[in-house]
Amino acid sequence: MSTAALMEKTRESEAAHPYLRGNFAPVEVETTAFDLPVKGRIPEALEGRLLRIGPNPARAVDENTYHWFMGDGMVHGLRLRGGRAEWYRNRFVGSDSVASALGRPRLAGPRNGFGDTANTNVIDIGGRAHAIVEAGALPVELTYELESVARSDLAGTLPHGFSAHPKFDPAKDELQVLAYQPGLEALSYLTVDRAGRARTVAEISAPHFPMIHDVAFTASRLIILDLPVVFDLAYLAKGFPFAWDDTRTPRIGLLPRNGDLSGLRWIEAPSCYVFHVMNAFDAPGAVIMDVVRHPKMFATEHRGPDEGDSPLVRWRIDLASGALSETVLEERGCEFPRFNDAFAGREYRYGYTASLKSGDRLGPNFKHDVTRGRTEVHDHGPGRTALEPVFVARPGAKAEDDGWVLSYVYDAGRKASDVVILDAQGFSDEPAAVIPLPVRVPYGFHGNWLPDPA
Ligand SMILES: [Fe+2]
Repeated sequence: MSTAALMEKTRESEAAHPYLRGNFAPVEVETTAFDLPVKGRIPEALEGRLLRIGPNPARAVDENTYHWFMGDGMVHGLRLRGGRAEWYRNRFVGSDSVASALGRPRLAGPRNGFGDTANTNVIDIGGRAHAIVEAGALPVELTYELESVARSDLAGTLPHGFSAHPKFDPAKDELQVLAYQPGLEALSYLTVDRAGRARTVAEISAPHFPMIHDVAFTASRLIILDLPVVFDLAYLAKGFPFAWDDTRTPRIGLLPRNGDLSGLRWIEAPSCYVFHVMNAFDAPGAVIMDVVRHPKMFATEHRGPDEGDSPLVRWRIDLASGALSETVLEERGCEFPRFNDAFAGREYRYGYTASLKSGDRLGPNFKHDVTRGRTEVHDHGPGRTALEPVFVARPGAKAEDDGWVLSYVYDAGRKASDVVILDAQGFSDEPAAVIPLPVRVPYGFHGNWLPDPA
């Protein structure tokens, strides 16, 4: 298919639904493109794949019931090696819905009885890429070339569903995971080792079925965000069964990392919703966590997240008094916080986000100095809008921000996306490299840099 024909198949939509319009619109085709053009120089140390996933309905959806979080999964990948952009691929993630829409065989593997759409993150588990999601559906293993292999219960070690946000702990060389699903009255604190085997550390009672999208940890504690968005049967028929619940008191759970429930302590939190924690760490007499705070969630807008601006804030929980105090690190709305993963769970200085203003949505990327409350901006230019920035450390780096920030950037003028590589220490400068892709990468959720095995 020619590039022009490809782009015609990936055109923007003028749908009324805000999460089907413009670059939220799904793309119809699976593209494979080799030897992509490069502006600038791709650092030769970057050898691997930049993966990204998001919702991309495989067939027309009912705009009255569609929720952004519920679309079929599509994974995108850019393979870099030796300073070259060897390929770009996008593939639907296998599910019953995708198989039915595209006339494909149903995916093999176990089921967990709560849907099978994995659309929210793509990470390495046990040396292989997996598409993952929260609230019940199992991970889907992918080949190097992003074809779906099978649903996976991690060789029988996963007791039920997984999470969209496992957090890698470099100190323990394992993932920290908090899984939940409607119908199960407990949250599961799991770890996953390098071989991809899950271990259940604790089951935490939560009979009100909260939506807990992310988790954080410090050297001593797991941090549980039990905020007022809960499973609501009344919304099931409307397509997305979670909504704001004013009757819930927002709280944060501090659980010892050994899972000892007798040490679980609940702290009252501000009324808000938090999808994402940037990082957290222990401080003398306190726990510090940096979060993107939304005023509410799914209270007035049920088609996707949009309840007002979402500043980046620092919460300090005083362990003696149990009081939580807040400092605003960046008042401009932002989302998709990332940082140098080597600093997970310990004191750090730099984080990276995407601008997300209520109403006019996406734009630049931000680099935050969380110790000084300062923000650098990388404006990608007119009509160019960034998604989640992924930090990749330079091999042998000594400084926390010695590395690159990689983003998929949509170019409304070209109606296609680029991968932009910034030098993190020259964040506002011209990019180190820009790799124009032949097609759009719709706005979506999360991704990661998966380096090739050494
Ligand atoms: Fe997320």
